[in-house]
Amino acid sequence: MDKYEEWAVSILPMVKEKMKWVSIKNKDKIPYTTDKNGGYDDRADESLKWSDDDGINWWTNGFFGGIMWLLYSDTAGNTFLEIARIQEKKLGRCFEKFYGLHHDVGFMFVPTAVADYRITGNEESRKTALLAASLLAGRFNPEGNFIRAWNDIKGSDTRGWAIIDCMFNISLLYWASDETGDPRFKNIAMRHADTVADAFIREDGSVCHIVEFDPESGRVIKSHGGQGYKEGSSWTRGQGWALYGFTNSYRHTGKKEYLDAAIKVAEYCLSNIDESAVIPIDFRQPDEPAYEDSCGACVIAGGFLELSEYVDGDLADKYKDCAYRILKRIAEERADFTQKCDAIVKGCSAAYHGDGHDMTMVYGDYFFIEALYKMSGSSFKMW
Ligand code: GLY
Repeated sequence: MDKYEEWAVSILPMVKEKMKWVSIKNKDKIPYTTDKNGGYDDRADESLKWSDDDGINWWTNGFFGGIMWLLYSDTAGNTFLEIARIQEKKLGRCFEKFYGLHHDVGFMFVPTAVADYRITGNEESRKTALLAASLLAGRFNPEGNFIRAWNDIKGSDTRGWAIIDCMFNISLLYWASDETGDPRFKNIAMRHADTVADAFIREDGSVCHIVEFDPESGRVIKSHGGQGYKEGSSWTRGQGWALYGFTNSYRHTGKKEYLDAAIKVAEYCLSNIDESAVIPIDFRQPDEPAYEDSCGACVIAGGFLELSEYVDGDLADKYKDCAYRILKRIAEERADFTQKCDAIVKGCSAAYHGDGHDMTMVYGDYFFIEALYKMSGSSFKMW
Protein backbone atom coordinates (compact mmCIF):
# COMPACT_ATOMS: atom_id res chain seq x y z
CA MET A 1 0.00 0.00 0.00
CA ASP A 2 1.31 3.46 -0.85
CA LYS A 3 0.70 6.42 1.47
CA TYR A 4 -2.36 7.51 -0.54
CA GLU A 5 -4.01 4.13 -0.30
CA GLU A 6 -3.18 3.85 3.38
CA TRP A 7 -4.74 7.24 4.06
CA ALA A 8 -7.94 6.50 2.09
CA VAL A 9 -8.31 3.14 3.83
CA SER A 10 -8.04 4.93 7.18
CA ILE A 11 -10.89 7.36 6.32
CA LEU A 12 -13.36 4.91 4.76
CA PRO A 13 -14.50 3.27 8.05
CA MET A 14 -15.81 6.68 9.23
CA VAL A 15 -17.70 7.07 5.95
CA LYS A 16 -19.23 3.60 6.24
CA GLU A 17 -20.17 4.12 9.86
CA LYS A 18 -21.90 7.38 9.04
CA MET A 19 -23.65 6.10 5.93
CA LYS A 20 -25.09 3.13 7.85
CA TRP A 21 -27.43 5.36 9.84
CA VAL A 22 -27.80 8.11 7.18
CA SER A 23 -29.02 5.58 4.62
CA ILE A 24 -31.60 4.03 6.94
CA LYS A 25 -32.82 7.40 8.23
CA ASN A 26 -33.30 8.69 4.66
CA LYS A 27 -34.25 5.51 2.86
CA ASP A 28 -37.57 6.90 1.62
CA LYS A 29 -36.17 10.24 0.49
CA ILE A 30 -34.22 11.35 -2.56
CA PRO A 31 -32.04 14.01 -0.95
CA TYR A 32 -30.22 17.01 -2.37
CA THR A 33 -29.20 19.17 0.59
CA THR A 34 -29.60 19.47 4.36
CA ASP A 35 -31.70 21.98 6.31
CA LYS A 36 -30.60 24.07 9.27
CA ASN A 37 -31.10 21.11 11.59
CA GLY A 38 -28.84 18.94 9.46
CA GLY A 39 -31.69 16.78 8.06
CA TYR A 40 -31.91 15.88 4.39
CA ASP A 41 -34.68 17.33 2.17
CA ASP A 42 -36.68 15.11 -0.20
CA ARG A 43 -36.93 15.77 -3.92
CA ALA A 44 -39.36 12.84 -4.24
CA ASP A 45 -41.92 14.45 -1.93
CA GLU A 46 -44.91 14.87 -4.22
CA SER A 47 -46.85 16.97 -1.72
CA LEU A 48 -44.50 19.87 -2.51
CA LYS A 49 -44.99 22.16 -5.50
CA TRP A 50 -42.03 21.50 -7.77
CA SER A 51 -41.24 23.08 -11.13
CA ASP A 52 -40.92 20.75 -14.14
CA ASP A 53 -37.20 20.19 -13.75
CA ASP A 54 -37.21 19.97 -9.97
CA GLY A 55 -38.82 17.41 -7.68
CA ILE A 56 -38.47 13.92 -9.11
CA ASN A 57 -36.81 15.38 -12.24
CA TRP A 58 -34.07 17.16 -10.27
CA TRP A 59 -30.71 16.43 -11.87
CA THR A 60 -28.90 15.23 -8.70
CA ASN A 61 -31.47 12.55 -7.93
CA GLY A 62 -29.14 9.69 -8.86
CA PHE A 63 -26.39 10.46 -6.36
CA PHE A 64 -27.86 9.09 -3.13
CA GLY A 65 -28.58 5.83 -4.94
CA GLY A 66 -25.04 6.00 -6.35
CA ILE A 67 -23.62 6.21 -2.84
CA MET A 68 -25.64 3.10 -1.94
CA TRP A 69 -24.12 1.20 -4.87
CA LEU A 70 -20.57 2.31 -3.98
CA LEU A 71 -21.11 1.02 -0.45
CA TYR A 72 -22.84 -2.16 -1.59
CA SER A 73 -19.97 -2.97 -3.99
CA ASP A 74 -17.56 -2.74 -1.08
CA THR A 75 -19.53 -4.26 1.78
CA ALA A 76 -22.16 -6.46 0.08
CA GLY A 77 -24.48 -5.01 2.76
CA ASN A 78 -28.00 -5.87 1.66
CA THR A 79 -29.49 -2.79 3.30
CA PHE A 80 -27.54 -0.62 0.86
CA LEU A 81 -28.88 -2.67 -2.05
CA GLU A 82 -32.45 -2.43 -0.78
CA ILE A 83 -32.22 1.34 -0.35
CA ALA A 84 -30.61 1.75 -3.78
CA ARG A 85 -33.60 -0.09 -5.25
CA ILE A 86 -36.10 2.14 -3.39
CA GLN A 87 -34.30 5.14 -4.89
CA GLU A 88 -34.32 3.66 -8.39
CA LYS A 89 -38.02 2.84 -8.26
CA LYS A 90 -38.97 6.33 -7.10
CA LEU A 91 -36.71 7.93 -9.70
CA GLY A 92 -38.45 5.95 -12.47
CA ARG A 93 -41.50 8.18 -11.93
CA CYS A 94 -39.65 10.99 -13.74
CA PHE A 95 -40.46 9.40 -17.11
CA GLU A 96 -44.18 9.90 -16.52
CA LYS A 97 -43.59 13.56 -15.83
CA PHE A 98 -41.24 13.82 -18.85
CA TYR A 99 -41.47 17.63 -19.23
CA GLY A 100 -38.42 18.95 -17.43
CA LEU A 101 -36.23 15.92 -18.12
CA HIS A 102 -33.11 17.02 -19.99
CA HIS A 103 -29.53 15.95 -20.68
CA ASP A 104 -28.93 15.19 -16.99
CA VAL A 105 -30.67 11.83 -17.38
CA GLY A 106 -27.03 10.65 -17.52
CA PHE A 107 -26.27 11.94 -14.03
CA MET A 108 -29.60 10.51 -12.86
CA PHE A 109 -29.42 7.01 -14.30
CA VAL A 110 -25.74 6.05 -14.53
CA PRO A 111 -25.31 5.81 -10.72
CA THR A 112 -28.72 4.13 -10.30
CA ALA A 113 -30.12 1.94 -13.10
CA VAL A 114 -26.80 1.38 -14.92
CA ALA A 115 -25.03 0.66 -11.63
CA ASP A 116 -27.76 -1.80 -10.62
CA TYR A 117 -27.59 -3.61 -13.94
CA ARG A 118 -23.79 -3.72 -13.93
CA ILE A 119 -23.61 -5.01 -10.37
CA THR A 120 -26.62 -7.33 -10.17
CA GLY A 121 -27.73 -7.92 -13.78
CA ASN A 122 -31.23 -6.57 -12.96
CA GLU A 123 -33.14 -6.69 -16.26
CA GLU A 124 -35.63 -3.93 -15.26
CA SER A 125 -32.72 -1.57 -14.64
CA ARG A 126 -31.30 -2.30 -18.09
CA LYS A 127 -34.62 -1.28 -19.63
CA THR A 128 -34.79 1.93 -17.58
CA ALA A 129 -31.20 2.83 -18.48
CA LEU A 130 -31.77 2.23 -22.20
CA LEU A 131 -34.88 4.42 -22.09
CA ALA A 132 -32.82 7.19 -20.47
CA ALA A 133 -30.05 6.73 -23.07
CA SER A 134 -32.59 7.05 -25.88
CA LEU A 135 -33.84 10.32 -24.40
CA LEU A 136 -30.30 11.63 -24.18
CA ALA A 137 -29.46 10.57 -27.75
CA GLY A 138 -32.62 12.36 -28.93
CA ARG A 139 -31.16 15.65 -27.71
CA PHE A 140 -28.30 15.51 -30.22
CA ASN A 141 -28.24 18.30 -32.78
CA PRO A 142 -26.39 17.13 -35.93
CA GLU A 143 -25.95 20.78 -37.00
CA GLY A 144 -23.09 21.70 -34.68
CA ASN A 145 -22.69 18.14 -33.30
CA PHE A 146 -23.71 18.88 -29.74
CA ILE A 147 -26.18 17.54 -27.20
CA ARG A 148 -28.69 20.17 -26.13
CA ALA A 149 -28.39 20.78 -22.39
CA TRP A 150 -31.52 22.20 -20.82
CA ASN A 151 -35.07 22.74 -22.06
CA ASP A 152 -36.64 26.15 -22.55
CA ILE A 153 -35.76 28.64 -19.84
CA LYS A 154 -38.01 31.69 -19.61
CA GLY A 155 -36.21 34.69 -21.08
CA SER A 156 -33.42 32.72 -22.84
CA ASP A 157 -33.32 30.82 -26.10
CA THR A 158 -31.58 27.64 -24.95
CA ARG A 159 -32.14 25.55 -28.09
CA GLY A 160 -28.44 25.83 -28.95
CA TRP A 161 -26.96 25.57 -25.45
CA ALA A 162 -24.47 22.86 -24.59
CA ILE A 163 -22.76 22.72 -21.20
CA ILE A 164 -19.55 21.16 -19.93
CA ASP A 165 -21.38 18.97 -17.36
CA CYS A 166 -22.64 16.82 -20.24
CA MET A 167 -19.20 15.22 -20.46
CA PHE A 168 -20.53 13.09 -17.58
CA ASN A 169 -23.97 12.46 -19.08
CA ILE A 170 -22.44 10.86 -22.16
CA SER A 171 -21.19 7.94 -20.05
CA LEU A 172 -24.78 6.72 -20.38
CA LEU A 173 -24.37 6.64 -24.18
CA TYR A 174 -21.06 4.74 -24.04
CA TRP A 175 -22.75 2.20 -21.78
CA ALA A 176 -25.75 1.87 -24.13
CA SER A 177 -23.52 1.08 -27.12
CA ASP A 178 -21.45 -1.40 -25.13
CA GLU A 179 -24.64 -3.04 -23.95
CA THR A 180 -26.58 -3.21 -27.23
CA GLY A 181 -23.76 -3.35 -29.78
CA ASP A 182 -25.46 -0.45 -31.58
CA PRO A 183 -22.79 2.20 -32.34
CA ARG A 184 -25.25 5.11 -32.64
CA PHE A 185 -25.09 6.01 -28.95
CA LYS A 186 -21.29 6.03 -28.87
CA ASN A 187 -21.12 7.98 -32.15
CA ILE A 188 -23.26 10.70 -30.62
CA ALA A 189 -21.16 10.74 -27.46
CA MET A 190 -17.94 11.08 -29.47
CA ARG A 191 -19.28 13.75 -31.80
CA HIS A 192 -20.39 15.73 -28.75
CA ALA A 193 -17.01 15.23 -27.03
CA ASP A 194 -15.17 16.35 -30.20
CA THR A 195 -17.27 19.53 -30.26
CA VAL A 196 -16.56 20.20 -26.60
CA ALA A 197 -12.81 19.71 -27.11
CA ASP A 198 -12.89 22.35 -29.88
CA ALA A 199 -15.41 24.85 -28.54
CA PHE A 200 -15.08 24.72 -24.73
CA ILE A 201 -11.39 24.23 -23.90
CA ARG A 202 -9.45 27.45 -24.10
CA GLU A 203 -5.80 27.85 -25.09
CA ASP A 204 -4.66 27.92 -21.44
CA GLY A 205 -6.60 24.74 -20.54
CA SER A 206 -9.44 26.50 -18.76
CA VAL A 207 -12.99 25.58 -19.77
CA CYS A 208 -16.25 27.47 -20.46
CA HIS A 209 -19.41 26.38 -18.69
CA ILE A 210 -21.93 27.10 -21.48
CA VAL A 211 -21.38 27.44 -25.23
CA GLU A 212 -24.29 28.66 -27.31
CA PHE A 213 -24.59 27.37 -30.88
CA ASP A 214 -27.00 28.49 -33.58
CA PRO A 215 -29.42 25.53 -33.44
CA GLU A 216 -30.14 25.83 -37.20
CA SER A 217 -26.61 26.21 -38.60
CA GLY A 218 -24.49 24.84 -35.75
CA ARG A 219 -22.25 27.93 -35.77
CA VAL A 220 -20.80 28.98 -32.39
CA ILE A 221 -22.51 32.18 -31.20
CA LYS A 222 -20.92 32.86 -27.80
CA SER A 223 -20.03 31.44 -24.41
CA HIS A 224 -21.79 32.18 -21.10
CA GLY A 225 -20.38 32.25 -17.56
CA GLY A 226 -23.14 29.96 -16.26
CA GLN A 227 -22.51 28.88 -12.67
CA GLY A 228 -19.13 30.63 -12.67
CA TYR A 229 -18.28 34.26 -11.97
CA LYS A 230 -18.73 35.58 -15.51
CA GLU A 231 -18.15 34.92 -19.19
CA GLY A 232 -14.46 34.06 -19.65
CA SER A 233 -14.06 32.91 -16.04
CA SER A 234 -13.32 29.39 -14.88
CA TRP A 235 -16.06 27.68 -12.85
CA THR A 236 -14.13 25.04 -10.96
CA ARG A 237 -16.73 22.29 -10.94
CA GLY A 238 -16.88 22.69 -14.70
CA GLN A 239 -13.10 22.26 -14.87
CA GLY A 240 -13.68 19.03 -12.92
CA TRP A 241 -16.44 17.82 -15.26
CA ALA A 242 -14.02 18.39 -18.17
CA LEU A 243 -10.94 16.83 -16.58
CA TYR A 244 -12.76 13.74 -15.33
CA GLY A 245 -15.20 13.60 -18.27
CA PHE A 246 -12.54 13.60 -21.00
CA THR A 247 -10.63 10.94 -19.07
CA ASN A 248 -13.80 8.81 -19.07
CA SER A 249 -14.25 9.39 -22.80
CA TYR A 250 -10.65 8.25 -23.33
CA ARG A 251 -11.28 5.08 -21.29
CA HIS A 252 -14.42 4.31 -23.31
CA THR A 253 -12.95 5.01 -26.77
CA GLY A 254 -9.13 4.97 -26.64
CA LYS A 255 -9.15 8.23 -28.62
CA LYS A 256 -5.86 9.95 -27.78
CA GLU A 257 -7.25 13.48 -28.29
CA TYR A 258 -9.50 12.95 -25.27
CA LEU A 259 -6.53 12.01 -23.10
CA ASP A 260 -4.68 15.11 -24.36
CA ALA A 261 -7.71 17.26 -23.55
CA ALA A 262 -7.92 15.81 -20.02
CA ILE A 263 -4.20 16.46 -19.43
CA LYS A 264 -4.50 20.03 -20.71
CA VAL A 265 -7.33 20.77 -18.27
CA ALA A 266 -5.52 18.90 -15.46
CA GLU A 267 -2.38 21.03 -15.93
CA TYR A 268 -4.48 24.19 -15.85
CA CYS A 269 -6.17 23.04 -12.61
CA LEU A 270 -2.82 22.11 -11.05
CA SER A 271 -1.38 25.52 -11.80
CA ASN A 272 -4.33 27.13 -9.98
CA ILE A 273 -4.33 24.97 -6.83
CA ASP A 274 -2.06 26.31 -4.10
CA GLU A 275 -0.58 24.67 -0.99
CA SER A 276 -3.83 25.11 0.97
CA ALA A 277 -5.66 22.90 -1.59
CA VAL A 278 -8.80 25.00 -1.02
CA ILE A 279 -10.89 24.93 -4.19
CA PRO A 280 -12.86 28.12 -4.93
CA ILE A 281 -16.16 28.15 -6.83
CA ASP A 282 -14.33 29.82 -9.71
CA PHE A 283 -10.57 29.96 -10.25
CA ARG A 284 -11.10 33.51 -11.55
CA GLN A 285 -13.47 34.86 -8.92
CA PRO A 286 -12.66 38.30 -7.44
CA ASP A 287 -11.16 38.61 -3.95
CA GLU A 288 -14.54 39.72 -2.60
CA PRO A 289 -16.92 38.05 -2.36
CA ALA A 290 -15.01 34.80 -2.65
CA TYR A 291 -16.57 31.36 -2.14
CA GLU A 292 -15.26 27.87 -1.68
CA ASP A 293 -16.63 24.73 -3.34
CA SER A 294 -15.87 21.43 -1.61
CA CYS A 295 -18.01 19.60 -4.16
CA GLY A 296 -15.93 20.88 -7.09
CA ALA A 297 -12.87 19.90 -5.02
CA CYS A 298 -14.05 16.27 -4.85
CA VAL A 299 -14.92 16.15 -8.58
CA ILE A 300 -11.45 17.49 -9.47
CA ALA A 301 -9.79 15.03 -7.07
CA GLY A 302 -11.73 12.15 -8.67
CA GLY A 303 -10.64 13.37 -12.11
CA PHE A 304 -6.98 13.48 -11.10
CA LEU A 305 -7.19 9.96 -9.70
CA GLU A 306 -8.90 8.57 -12.79
CA LEU A 307 -6.42 10.33 -15.09
CA SER A 308 -3.45 9.04 -13.08
CA GLU A 309 -4.34 5.54 -14.33
CA TYR A 310 -3.64 6.43 -17.97
CA VAL A 311 -0.46 8.51 -17.76
CA ASP A 312 3.12 7.54 -16.91
CA GLY A 313 5.15 7.73 -13.72
CA ASP A 314 5.89 11.32 -12.73
CA LEU A 315 2.68 12.70 -14.17
CA ALA A 316 0.59 10.05 -12.40
CA ASP A 317 2.34 10.80 -9.08
CA LYS A 318 1.75 14.51 -9.51
CA TYR A 319 -1.99 14.00 -10.14
CA LYS A 320 -2.38 11.52 -7.29
CA ASP A 321 -0.59 13.83 -4.92
CA CYS A 322 -2.83 16.76 -5.79
CA ALA A 323 -5.93 14.57 -5.31
CA TYR A 324 -4.55 13.50 -1.93
CA ARG A 325 -3.97 17.10 -0.79
CA ILE A 326 -7.49 18.11 -1.85
CA LEU A 327 -9.21 15.13 -0.20
CA LYS A 328 -7.13 15.31 2.98
CA ARG A 329 -8.08 18.92 3.43
CA ILE A 330 -11.76 18.09 2.88
CA ALA A 331 -11.55 15.19 5.35
CA GLU A 332 -9.80 17.31 7.98
CA GLU A 333 -11.63 20.62 7.62
CA ARG A 334 -14.91 20.11 5.79
CA ALA A 335 -16.10 16.60 6.60
CA ASP A 336 -18.69 16.00 9.30
CA PHE A 337 -18.69 12.41 10.56
CA THR A 338 -20.98 13.18 13.50
CA GLN A 339 -24.72 12.53 13.88
CA LYS A 340 -25.45 16.28 13.75
CA CYS A 341 -25.85 16.35 9.99
CA ASP A 342 -27.00 13.81 7.39
CA ALA A 343 -24.38 14.97 4.88
CA ILE A 344 -20.64 14.53 5.22
CA VAL A 345 -19.13 17.23 2.98
CA LYS A 346 -19.71 20.85 3.95
CA GLY A 347 -18.61 24.09 2.31
CA CYS A 348 -20.15 23.49 -1.13
CA SER A 349 -21.34 26.24 -3.49
CA ALA A 350 -24.00 25.74 -6.14
CA ALA A 351 -22.89 28.71 -8.25
CA TYR A 352 -20.92 31.95 -7.85
CA HIS A 353 -24.07 34.08 -8.10
CA GLY A 354 -27.12 33.38 -5.96
CA ASP A 355 -27.25 32.35 -2.33
CA GLY A 356 -26.29 28.65 -2.54
CA HIS A 357 -23.02 28.87 -0.61
CA ASP A 358 -21.49 27.04 2.31
CA MET A 359 -24.06 24.31 1.92
CA THR A 360 -24.11 20.53 1.62
CA MET A 361 -24.89 18.91 -1.75
CA VAL A 362 -25.48 15.18 -2.10
CA TYR A 363 -23.08 14.97 -5.03
CA GLY A 364 -20.33 16.48 -2.85
CA ASP A 365 -20.72 13.40 -0.67
CA TYR A 366 -20.97 11.12 -3.70
CA PHE A 367 -17.72 12.36 -5.27
CA PHE A 368 -15.91 12.42 -1.92
CA ILE A 369 -16.80 8.78 -1.26
CA GLU A 370 -16.10 7.73 -4.85
CA ALA A 371 -12.66 9.39 -4.73
CA LEU A 372 -11.82 7.69 -1.43
CA TYR A 373 -12.70 4.32 -2.96
CA LYS A 374 -10.57 5.07 -6.03
CA MET A 375 -7.64 6.08 -3.83
CA SER A 376 -8.03 2.97 -1.70
CA GLY A 377 -7.48 0.83 -4.80
CA SER A 378 -11.06 -0.04 -5.83
CA SER A 379 -11.32 -0.88 -9.52
CA PHE A 380 -15.08 -0.13 -9.71
CA LYS A 381 -15.89 2.33 -12.54
CA MET A 382 -19.19 4.16 -12.23
CA TRP A 383 -18.81 6.46 -15.25
N1 GLY B 1 -25.03 22.02 -13.05
C1 GLY B 1 -24.25 21.01 -12.48
C2 GLY B 1 -23.49 21.40 -11.31
O1 GLY B 1 -23.98 22.14 -10.48
O2 GLY B 1 -22.38 20.98 -11.19
